[in-house]
Amino acid sequence: MRPPIRFVRMLAAAAAMVALAAQPAASQGGDAPRNLKVLPSDLSRDSVVKIMRFELASGLGVTCSYCHGAPGVPFDSIDFASDERQTKRTAREMMRMIARINGELLPAITTRGTPPIQVQCITCHRGAQRPLMLEDTLGTVIARLGADSAIATYERIKQRYTGRFAYDFGQRSLNTLAARLLEQSRLADARRILELDIRRTDKDNCDTDSWSGKATVGYRHARQD
Ligand code: HEC
Ligand code: HEC
Repeated sequence: MRPPIRFVRMLAAAAAMVALAAQPAASQGGDAPRNLKVLPSDLSRDSVVKIMRFELASGLGVTCSYCHGAPGVPFDSIDFASDERQTKRTAREMMRMIARINGELLPAITTRGTPPIQVQCITCHRGAQRPLMLEDTLGTVIARLGADSAIATYERIKQRYTGRFAYDFGQRSLNTLAARLLEQSRLADARRILELDIRRTDKDNCDTDSWSGKATVGYRHARQD
């Protein structure tokens, strides 16, 4: 099924570009694309590359070679039309999913904001290859390798991603993970994660910067209930 042309416009608008669909087909730059199954098959190579760069690659925080070519293959020799990479095939399914969300499912909602918001790769992926929440990633590590590894992973991820969009380093993530561990009666692990959260808030100098601060907040919430 050919997705609505709106999908292309959405990609273009989000990257502050002109409406790509209005450009003459295959007019400039390199060979014309020959294996487009989701984007309009007559889009120029330049238009396709803009979408690739500003929507797909930047949305996932990757370079072209994540979906095209193989390790060590120089850029100039990449066969972009090839569907060999699983990541490219998955990305195509994701493009179909987005086309359906923006073209069919969201328009069915009668009370949308102005301007209506379009879903993009980055809406879910937030600049990461897999759109995982911090508590999911740490939860997997703690289940397989224990609390020490989870805490080391936390520090590593934080160093790499602070200031970016991929992970929420606020109180919510660690509290959510601790609550999940408590539900599984994993008290020692939950305690380690809560202690990590307290170290974090101490360091970040947040308003709830100590056990007593937390207890006060908890007490206030309890009173309001
Ligand atoms: C997340 C995966 C992903 C990344 C990253 C990515 N692409 Fe693509 N690329 C695709 C998919 C999927 C298609 C096919 C789209 C379709 O079927 O409509 C495609 C198609 C293309 C095509 C058209 C090939 C043809 O002949 O049909 C070109 C050219 C291209 N990409 C270049 C690039 C460049 C340059 C970059 C880096 C700036 C890049 N891509 C990054 C997934 C990706
Ligand atoms: C509505 C949310 C959402 C949007 C929007 C979205 N994705 Fe995804 N994507 C996911 C989820 C969830 C997964 C993980 C699926 C799983 O493995 O369970 C995923 C996985 C992937 C993967 C596989 C990664 C891996 O390592 O297994 C690729 C590649 C990908 N997405 C590309 C894209 C591209 C390109 C776009 C934009 C065209 C996009 N996604 C938009 C939710 C989304």
